[in-house]
Amino acid sequence: MKILVTGGLGYIGSHTVVELQSAGFNVVIIDNLSNSKIEVLDKITQITGIKPGYFNFDLSNKTACEEFFSNNNNIDGIIHFAAYKAVGESVNKPLMYYRNNLESLMNIMDNMNIHNIANLVFSSSCTVYGQPDVLPVTEQAPRKQAESPYGNTKKMAEDIIQDTVYSSDLKAIALRYFNPVGAHPTALIGELPLGVPNNLMPFITQTAAGIREQLSVFGEDYDTADGTAIRDYIHVVDLAKAHIIAVKRLVEKNNKLDYEIFNIGTGNGYSVLEVVKSFERVTNTKLNYKIVGRREGDIEKVWANTDFANNELGWKAEKDIDEMTASAWKFQLALK
Ligand code: WQD
Repeated sequence: MKILVTGGLGYIGSHTVVELQSAGFNVVIIDNLSNSKIEVLDKITQITGIKPGYFNFDLSNKTACEEFFSNNNNIDGIIHFAAYKAVGESVNKPLMYYRNNLESLMNIMDNMNIHNIANLVFSSSCTVYGQPDVLPVTEQAPRKQAESPYGNTKKMAEDIIQDTVYSSDLKAIALRYFNPVGAHPTALIGELPLGVPNNLMPFITQTAAGIREQLSVFGEDYDTADGTAIRDYIHVVDLAKAHIIAVKRLVEKNNKLDYEIFNIGTGNGYSVLEVVKSFERVTNTKLNYKIVGRREGDIEKVWANTDFANNELGWKAEKDIDEMTASAWKFQLALK
């Protein structure tokens, strides 16, 4: 079975390629290196002993897309990660985000229809829920006004997929990620933030490594036990494994609907300070942080109801918060 992974040199994409190859799939990657490094291709090869196929072009380029699919047939499924994902940047450059994230998706789906590629797994996000009214949040919860153009591209992409599925032979699964963190146990691949990290975990590890002066904890006045915001952090390897199950479900035609949506989280929420304490516990260090004001656009608390993924996919996150922080730290140390 041949699976195309777009964005396959990125953080979640590279971990998914490793799991796909380990599960016996033949993998080809498209990645234009806009938020990844070519060295990751060798790291994947080092981990699995198998070098994935690799093509470097921009998926929002219609001609380049058509050329690729004309020359690369017998693709059994596509896992689509390639997208811009920086929340803050998307607020400043909305058109860049809408154009890139949506045109890439539409080019892929056009070619799926032309070349009879039926199976698509899409990288969605819990950001579509905004601040849920009920926690834990289920897949039936209403999607809310996106907090950013980035989040809106995920919501719009889900709608584009749903409408295209209903008008074609395409089958799709959207995986709504919660907060992916951590790194592969080999520490050869992990979250390579280019520039100043927006996300919590790389900021923690870079602060501990002396790359950043101090972690700013954004807000201590939320309605939570310690006042800091709560998220459902999930180990990137657990997340990657969910993609293997999802693409197999489609390829083996075990999907119950033409378009299915699954929450991929742990079902446990941790506050910012609980993540910091986990990091301090596993590294036996004290982290230099200060409490500052809330970050604009942040929601207060979210964690997943994972019953549907657990029961229907037979998938469940296995790694706990200490394994997440320990693996993130091991990767940071390996970067030096
Ligand atoms: C987590 C918590 C921050 C940094 C975003 C996107 C989501 C997905 C993951 C792409 C929040 C706090 C953070 C810092 C802090 N992105 N924090 N100090 O915002 O939940 O989700 O990234 O797929 O779609 O929305 O993740 O890691 O930025 O923040 O206190 O330096 O950590 O306020 O409470 P977030 P995050």
